[in-house]
Amino acid sequence: MSSNEQILKEVNRRKTFAIISHPDAGKTTLTEKLLLYGGAIRLAGAVKGRKAAKHAVSDWMEIEKQRGISVTSSAMQFDYQGYRINILDTPGHQDFSEDTYRTLMAADSAVMLIDGAKGVEEQTLKLFHVCKMRGIPIFTFINKLDRYCKNPFELIEEIEKTLGIQSYPMNWPIGTEGNFKGVYNRELKQIELFNNQQDHGQAVIATTTLSVDNEQLVELLGADLCAQLCEDIELLNIAGDRFDLEKVKAGELTPIFFGSAMTNFGVEPFLEKFILLAPSPAERKTNQGMKSPHEDRFSGFVFKIQANMDPAHRDRIAFIRICSGKFERGLEVNNVRIGKTIKLAQPQQFFAQERSIIEEAYAGDIIGVYDPGVFNIGDTLCDINESFRFEGIPIFPPEHFALVTTKDAMKRKQFLKGIAQIAEEGAIQVFKKPNIGIEALTIGVVGVLQFEVLEYRMKNEYGVDINLQRLPYCYARWVMPENVAKDLVGYSGSIDLVEDQYNRPVLLFKDQWSLNRAIDNNKGAKLYDVAPTNLI
Ligand code: G4P
Repeated sequence: MSSNEQILKEVNRRKTFAIISHPDAGKTTLTEKLLLYGGAIRLAGAVKGRKAAKHAVSDWMEIEKQRGISVTSSAMQFDYQGYRINILDTPGHQDFSEDTYRTLMAADSAVMLIDGAKGVEEQTLKLFHVCKMRGIPIFTFINKLDRYCKNPFELIEEIEKTLGIQSYPMNWPIGTEGNFKGVYNRELKQIELFNNQQDHGQAVIATTTLSVDNEQLVELLGADLCAQLCEDIELLNIAGDRFDLEKVKAGELTPIFFGSAMTNFGVEPFLEKFILLAPSPAERKTNQGMKSPHEDRFSGFVFKIQANMDPAHRDRIAFIRICSGKFERGLEVNNVRIGKTIKLAQPQQFFAQERSIIEEAYAGDIIGVYDPGVFNIGDTLCDINESFRFEGIPIFPPEHFALVTTKDAMKRKQFLKGIAQIAEEGAIQVFKKPNIGIEALTIGVVGVLQFEVLEYRMKNEYGVDINLQRLPYCYARWVMPENVAKDLVGYSGSIDLVEDQYNRPVLLFKDQWSLNRAIDNNKGAKLYDVAPTNLI
């Protein structure tokens, strides 16, 4: 096989996706079950210990272990039916960080996981908008069907109305009021029976199927549920959206799967369909046109930088999403931003707490490399004979702000160094007040937990105790042009004007009301809720 043919084959068998959900919807459980069916783990429970030691395998930092939550995100890889699946782990707890958004830049599709009893929740909505912005396909898994759930028609309406996307249920639940019996598979026109696993579905189960004209059906489901199913299916067929793969690919229509990750029900049928419908790596935009994933020259970009992967070694790891070509250990690449050749000597793959050295990888794969301080988020890495840039990674607006100073004025140097390094990793955003010194910095974060992480890391890594005084702002908007920005602030006590790290003006708002007012009386200014990369 020629090298081009090999690249084509490898790229086409890759499916790289992220799961987006609100905390507690079951993301850890679903991830674990996908790994179970993919043969990457033998018994569920390996990814996250239950209650007693409730922290995910992707926890590295001590603070995460203390809090029992995952602040970092990583990638997990397994093979399934000839496909190579990369699941990008997006932290699912309440205090998610900008990393969660950025991880979506590395995904080719997303699985939106929804708790059937709760419907579309706040964080799902935020993450959905990032997926929508990228136009990537979104697959929906409605979870926890083994318990009482909202009416499925209501759920679908909620998804379509709140998210502005069409939908197509691939299967349809039977009994959603705590009397779950299984699903009707619309494509195969068969019933898949629910078999309640009492052990949290630790092991793989086979799906029990029944044709719709089976005489046992009424006996198994009961006359009422049978009649309800027939009525529902008829309604869906008449009034529902039609399945349209082109719309799925464009992120305009989401295929919906009902299931129960905890009991394993619906996980395998989902995975089987997902690998067929989800896209393989596609071409990506650069400042010199589109870059095909099948090109033999290597390219990729840094989407995440993680410090303290191994607390014993204070190391920084840059995560690279490969976009084209074949990656081989020791490859030399051009870091276009600094115009330097860098050898990717010890490329690693992360699975749980284990790392393994990667010998080769292709578009769609994620590799982690040691960062001696040469990488920034968004850096393009390409063949040493090329020089182009992938579209920048957008900067998302922080939602929490604080004024940060060092307690000990003698440690000002370490203070600034620590803040600068943590900001480089993208964990915090630093804002300055125009014409005011840098003794006190305005720090913005997407998730409030990042403040705790900042305090902890400043003390443990840089030996600096900080004062952190929360500021009452909750919205940030980049604004152009600058002179109008000053007018907008006017005498309002609810708005402040600061500058981001690229000296771009940013307005901070205390409440929705003052934000809306600024939008209405904008005096010709443009407000951006995602930092426009072309302004850098
Ligand atoms: P997250 O990563 O999205 O935050 O969610 P996670 O998987 O940790 O699941 C949150 C809770 O929901 C867990 O219960 C989990 O067992 C439960 N869960 C996940 N999928 C299902 C499902 O299909 N059906 C039902 N009934 N529950 C589900 P927990 O009580 O917090 O922990 P545990 O004791 O079960 O570990």
